[in-house]
Amino acid sequence: MSMSATAVAHPNIAFIKYWGNKDQKLRIPMNGSISMTLEGLETRTKVAFYPEMERDQLTIQGKPIYGEGLERVSRFLERVRRWSGNSEYARVTSQSNFPMGSGIASSASAFAALSLAASTAAGLSFTERELSRLARTGSGSASRSIPGGFVEWQAGTEHENSYAFSIAGPEHWELVDLVVVISTQPKETGSTEGHKLAPTSPLQDARVSDASRRLNLCRSAILERDFEALARIVEQDSNMMHAVMMTSQPPLFYWRPATVRMIRIVKKWRKKGLPVCSTIDAGPNVHVICLQEHSKTLKKRLLDIPDVEDVYTTYPGGGAYLLCRSSSGESEG
Ligand code: DP6
Repeated sequence: MSMSATAVAHPNIAFIKYWGNKDQKLRIPMNGSISMTLEGLETRTKVAFYPEMERDQLTIQGKPIYGEGLERVSRFLERVRRWSGNSEYARVTSQSNFPMGSGIASSASAFAALSLAASTAAGLSFTERELSRLARTGSGSASRSIPGGFVEWQAGTEHENSYAFSIAGPEHWELVDLVVVISTQPKETGSTEGHKLAPTSPLQDARVSDASRRLNLCRSAILERDFEALARIVEQDSNMMHAVMMTSQPPLFYWRPATVRMIRIVKKWRKKGLPVCSTIDAGPNVHVICLQEHSKTLKKRLLDIPDVEDVYTTYPGGGAYLLCRSSSGESEG
């Protein structure tokens, strides 16, 4: 009998970033991080185990995937097989409603949805904490896409104590993340390679040893809904991560001229009294964080800026959830 399950997860935007691992294989991060789970963007993944298959199969956006992409998913499924005692191979089908590999953390929603779908189809019934740990082993930021709302990933020291949890629900604060797409071209250096380079920057130690200060400021700003305090720490944290990236060996430059232009425009708007700030992941695109009451006007203004290809409006969203499961493998999802 084959088993299948379909799950949905959202990406997340880190306010305090994860960059560099203490344990690269298990993805135990050098520092804790804080993020917001993003409703409006999502990945839907179906996993079906079949006794007659000879290897795992992966389809993303309707295209069969081979090579490193498939191997990463296969390594992940190996863990699920080991933990569940189910040795069957799986067919994985994944669909996202946003471009992959462009600095909008597609690996976060992808591995969060995969964790829930694969563990369920394998007959495991994991708690949120267990799912977050499992998702972390596939992609670090995916640990933060299991819980909903405002989420903290405690770095921990080993597999057991490195997981994410919600510090406030999605309804806590009406923030909006306007994802400003400057380029959808795949990045030159993926996050996994980038994390390995982090220790080669002399600035990484300073960034890591200052992390608890930034985490405390960010957590309080969220709990107190203090936008100005949030803006200051979010921008500083993003700049500190990019300073590490730019000074690692070899150096990583994810910013484009349009990225810098956006940073400056957002700063100018805030100086004029508008609650708005920016943060950037491992790519050229800029996440513009604002309050819901200003999001429509800001989106219009952003679309008028040269080189802005698109703007996605996203809100604090819920955690990963199961759409359906079946024990025949015939259900559609
Ligand atoms: C810059 O989670 O994508 O977005 O664990 O290798 O999959 P892997 O890396 P990933 O790294 C995310 C880096 C970041 C910052 C963040 O989201 O915290």
